[in-house]
This record gives sequence, structure tokens and C-alpha cells, in this order.
Amino acid sequence: MIRFPALIAAVVVAASPLAATPPMDELRDAPAAKPAPAAAVIRIPRRPTTQRPAVLDRRIESKIEQLLKRMTLEEKLGQLQQLGDDGKGGHIEAAKKGRLGSTLSISGAAKLNEIQRANMEHSRLKIPVLFAHDVIHGFRTIFPIPLGEAAMWDPEAAEKASAVAAAEAGAAGLRWTFAPMVDIARDPRWGRIAEGAGEDPYLGAAMARARVRGFQGSDPSAPDKLLACAKHWIGYGAAEGGRDYNSTDMSLRTMREIYFPPFKAAVDAGVATFMSAFNDLNGVPSSGNAFTLTQVLRGEWGFTGFVVSDYESVRELIPHGFAKDAADAARLGLASGVDMEMVSRTYAENAPKLLEKGLLSQAAIDESVRRVLRQKFRAGVFERPYADEAAEKTAFLKPEYVRLARENAARSFVLLKNEKGLLPLEGPGRTIAVIGPLADDASAMLGTWAGEGKKEDAVTILQGLKSEAPAGTKIRHARGCDADCKTTDGFAAAVDAARNADVVVAVVGETGDMNGEAASRSTLDLPGRQLELVQALHATGKPVVAVLVNGRPLTIGWLAENVPAILETWHAGVQAGPAVADALFGRVTPGGKLPVTFPRTVGQVPIYYNQKTTGRPPTMDDWVKERYVSRYQDLPLGPLYEFGFGLSYTTFRLSDFALSATSIKPDGRITAKVAVENTGARDGDEVVQLYIRRPSASVTRPVRELKGFKRVSLKPGETREVAFDLGPADLGFLGPNLEFGVEPGIVEAYAGTSSSGGLKAFFEIVAR
Ligand code: NOJ
Repeated sequence: MIRFPALIAAVVVAASPLAATPPMDELRDAPAAKPAPAAAVIRIPRRPTTQRPAVLDRRIESKIEQLLKRMTLEEKLGQLQQLGDDGKGGHIEAAKKGRLGSTLSISGAAKLNEIQRANMEHSRLKIPVLFAHDVIHGFRTIFPIPLGEAAMWDPEAAEKASAVAAAEAGAAGLRWTFAPMVDIARDPRWGRIAEGAGEDPYLGAAMARARVRGFQGSDPSAPDKLLACAKHWIGYGAAEGGRDYNSTDMSLRTMREIYFPPFKAAVDAGVATFMSAFNDLNGVPSSGNAFTLTQVLRGEWGFTGFVVSDYESVRELIPHGFAKDAADAARLGLASGVDMEMVSRTYAENAPKLLEKGLLSQAAIDESVRRVLRQKFRAGVFERPYADEAAEKTAFLKPEYVRLARENAARSFVLLKNEKGLLPLEGPGRTIAVIGPLADDASAMLGTWAGEGKKEDAVTILQGLKSEAPAGTKIRHARGCDADCKTTDGFAAAVDAARNADVVVAVVGETGDMNGEAASRSTLDLPGRQLELVQALHATGKPVVAVLVNGRPLTIGWLAENVPAILETWHAGVQAGPAVADALFGRVTPGGKLPVTFPRTVGQVPIYYNQKTTGRPPTMDDWVKERYVSRYQDLPLGPLYEFGFGLSYTTFRLSDFALSATSIKPDGRITAKVAVENTGARDGDEVVQLYIRRPSASVTRPVRELKGFKRVSLKPGETREVAFDLGPADLGFLGPNLEFGVEPGIVEAYAGTSSSGGLKAFFEIVAR
């Protein structure tokens, strides 16, 4: 029998922004609970999926069957082929022959109508082409990069941005986006960390759901909606060494508990398609992996959409050393569950022979064709194959879209430091030196995968500060160096501008090309000599506000120690400039939180908040003296800034953390409530975060796991109660045999404003 302490009252734990995650003494004061015997694990069925075949539309299924009966093998393989514009009209020729299922990276109503016309007027069966594009964080109205979007901790705001992206892309003739990218990333060297929601499965799942809803709506056939695509399935973000396209090797537990949840959330939200990844996963490339593509995705999750390969990732089964040749690659791709092939043509060229030789079944091809046709019906292309070219002309950058871009940009900012209330810069008559390679760089505002975003549409930080500054403000600008910052030639002019100013805004970081695909970096430092530039500005004695523009966590220890204020702005989109002005001039109070850990040095990577304790957890106070504990000899414990961290111009206090019960049954639910008060003098947002931990269990559990969050806006003096409801899906985990269940034992709950510190309470799960 497990004894539960009478107390439910929360224990207050000091929260420090620079604390390790979590302070190790927290890990010691939980009451000891015996590990539950395996037999005590209660298996709770997983939540039913929304995509069981039963929900398929019978009328559509029967239309699909009728079409299938009429299709030749070549026409079927045509539906499984996606091509781009090869510059020689190859895609038009393919369309005429009914051999083009889909296109990628071509947009614009007129261009796409031309392809569709070739298809509808010449092909035998007139099955409309499905037009796809990378609409990742906006189409023309570019919003913050997805990592910045995750920093809003506000799925509704992300959903709105995806809805705008879908409306613009839909007007440009597109019916399908290769988004959301829902890869978990624990290694900031990997450039594509910019495209996802960061390191956490819970936050990642919330963002995945929101973005799928935003793109698809309740009816993806509406002209302002798109089919969505959860990518890259799976493990792509765990590339060894953070080197893009590199192999991935991880335990099944990590795969299921950390990397799967955002994809599962996308399936539950009704996502239409998946994209199979480039990487080798535990020895079986993701684009030929029957376990992940069929057993899990279809078998366990009931996914009824289709899977598109990544760019030539079926052909790449050959260099992986997995397929012998193109025919073998086609066989492995189709048999494992990749339905449509992007760019390479191994299916179209080899499937007939494979069939003849009995190496592939007709049933496998038919099933893939069914899946593709099903989504074409869902996208409404049979009823509406053409785009409205007139409507496209007024579809972009509508005032309400631009307004949302500005709001979301400001919501995504994370205030990392603000000594002595340097920010906001209020009041008239200041001279501000706006320095740095990214201050006036419009492309850097857009960031990676900027759709059809144009740098002319983007307002730079310099422009934003100039146009939005309080009356009487003088702005001086010097670049200092370009983003590579190889020379110090421009430093003197920058220092001169700083000397003649009251305050310096140093805009440093990365261009959009420095992160994203094929943009891994071996260091996380500011590129080139940018840090020296900031050091030269700091040496003038003027207060320096560092405004970071970047798509990954950077190692900014020197800034954290020396400059009084740091604002993380990511690549914030077309309205980056006005949004930075809103934040710096105090019209908006930053309220974003880090969706990813910022390490002190690249040597700490991989570093993430939901680590295990190890058998030798260090204590916070004694980290220098304590030798035989898990730590680095040459570094303080923990990250520079932990997951979930972010400051505000106002202050908040959490109190009255209480649980609705002292104990629950494994299939029971519990509510955690906490009050949050704005104790400062300005309006502001706080993100209240709920974490749990199992101090002992039949398998070791992370030091904390996020299980709820809520961004709340409060006026000075206002208090709000926030409630989190936890049930089996939140409290269960994979036991020793990787079976999901809820295990009896003590659960610690933390309510906090980051993944470190906060208020703590306990409850017990008791066997039935
Ligand atoms: C390769 C990228 O990995 C993927 O994310 C993208 O959607 C495709 N290219 C198409 O552009």
C-alpha cells in the first residue's frame, strides 16, 4: 500500500531564470513511492482516432472504385507521381497524358490553370491535378517562422495565421501545403529547428493540431482552405550531430514518447497527408519503413490519407544502401507505404516490370491510388479544378492579414533580459543608434521557407523603429558589418553612431539562409565577428539592447552577462519592424516563452528540459565542489535559458496551487488550479505552465513533462485562476514493454512560468 502525505498544499520553489532544469533539490523531496509491480499497471485504451475507415464517405468511396476500374496501369502510376517545373514543359506533357497526379513548387492561378487545362482537355480520365507548395509560415503575408510561432504559446493565434496562409495560397490556385512541419528538434545545430515547434511533444502536438485546423478548416474543399501535410515522418529532427539528412538512431521509447506525439495529434486533427522523411531510422530509411509508414500510421493510428515522399527520397533509398537499384527503390517505397513519389520517377518507370515479375502487387498500387483520389475528392478539385484568376488579384496582404502578422510577430517575441527596466524605451526626445547587419535586412525578416513572400513587403526593424518612434526620437543607423561579419571595417562608423546616441539597439543574428534546410551549423555563436561588434558598442558605455533575429537557439552567454536587455524576435515576418517597434516602445509587452532550450555552449547539445535525472543528479548549490555527479567540469549546471522561459515588462505571481483530489484511480481525472496575478504596473501576458513528474516508476521518467499551458492577459492587479484537467492520456506512459498504461504511484505537479521552479503539489494514483 502506498502512503500518501496528507499535504496537498503547494511547496514554493524558487524560480530562477538561470537555474538548471530542474533544481535538483526539487527531485529529492518527493515522498518515496515503491515502483508499482508490473501487474498493477492499468492499461487505458488510447483515445479513439478520428480517421477510422468507418468515417469514410461512402459516396466518395464508390466514385473512387468506379474510377479505379477505368484506369490503366499508367494512369494509376500517374496519380502517384508528383513533379515540379523542369523548365522544359515536362509536367505539361505528363498532364496531357494523365500521368501527373500532383505538382510542387509551382504557384499562381494562371500558371496552375494552364497545367490543369492541359490535363482536363487532353487526358483521358480528366482526374484533376493536385497543386502543392511549401506554404510554411505564410504565402504572401509572411508570419513568424514556426519556431517563433511556437514561442507565442498560443495555438489559436497560430491557427489564425495558418488560415490566412491557406486563404492566400488557395487564391493562388494551390490545394495542398507541405505543412505543418512537426519534427521535434533537440539539437539547434540542425537548421530545420526553425521550421518546427521546438523540443517538446506536448507543445508540438498543440501547435500541430492548431495548424492543421488552420490550413484545412472543417472542409478543406473550401477555396480558402488547403490539404495539410504532417512532415517529416519520422525522426528527421534527430539527425546525428545536427547535420541535415544525417542518420537517426533512437530507442523505440524515445520515438514513441517524444517524436510521435505531434504527428499523432495531426492525425487526430484530420490531417490529409504525411511526408516520409529523408533520414535513415535505426537502419531502415523513413521512406522505406513499413513499421512507421504502415504498422504505426495506418495500423495503430487509422490514418486514411496518403503519404508523399520527400524530394526524391524514394530514389535516395539507393545511396542509403537500402535499395539495389531504382526498381528495388520503387518496390520498397510502395510496399512500405509511400503512396506518391515526389520528383524521382522510380514508380512510374519500374512498377510495370515489378508487377510482371510478381515483386509488387496490383492491390498495393490500387490502394495507394485510392488514398490519393480520396484526398483529391476531399480537396474539392473534381468540382473546382480551376482557380479564379480575377479573385487572386485582390487576395494577398489584406489589411486584416497584415494586422495579424504584426500581432503574431509581437506575440512571438521572448524577452530574455531586461536589467533595471531599460525596456521599454518610452518618452520622447531620445537618440537611438540602430546598428547591426540585420537591422535593415528585409529578407532576414521573412526567414526560411518564405513561400511567395517578397522582401518588398517586409518592413525591416530599422524602418519599423523609424516610423513608429515616439515624437522627437532621432534614429541613427550603421550596419557595422554584413551577417557573415568577416571584417571589422564598418565597426568604426557603428561605434561613432553609438557614441552619439542615448541607447543602442544592436540587431544581430542570422539571415534566413543560415537556418532551414541544408543549413546546419557546427557552432551556435553569433556568425562571424558579430559578437565583437556588440562588444565594441558596449564599450562605448551606452546601454545596449540586443535584438536577436535567428531561427535557432544561439549561444549568447556574453550578451546575457553584459548587455542590459535582450529581445528574441526570431524571423518575425513581413511586419517584423512594426512589431519590434511595438515591443521596444512599450505599446506591446513581450509575453512569448522559449519553445526550446538555449544552451550555454554547443558542447551541451543535445540539451532539453525533459531529460532524465540520472543516478547521480548534481545539486544546484554545490556544483563546483561536487565531482562524481552528472555535469560538465567547465560549465555551470543547466542551460543559459530554459524551455518555457521569458520575461515581461510587468511581473506575475502564482499562488493557490491546488489539486482537486489527493488520489485518483488510473482511469480517473484530476484538476490542477493555480492563480496568476499581475503584480506589476503594466498590462501583460503570462504563460502558466503545468508540468508533472513521476519520482519513481517501472521505467525512469523525465524530470518534468509539460502537460498543460495557458497564455493569459492581465491588467495590473488583476488575478485569474487557470485550471488544467489531467486524465489517463496525460498521466500514462509506456511501461517496460512499451505498452501504454497508467501506473499507480506518486505524481508531482508543478505550476510555473517556465520549466524551472514554480509551485509544487503531489497526488497519488491508486490501483483500482
Ligand atoms: C524538401 C524538404 O525536406 C521538404 O520539407 C519540402 O516540403 C520538399 N523539399 C518540397 O519542397
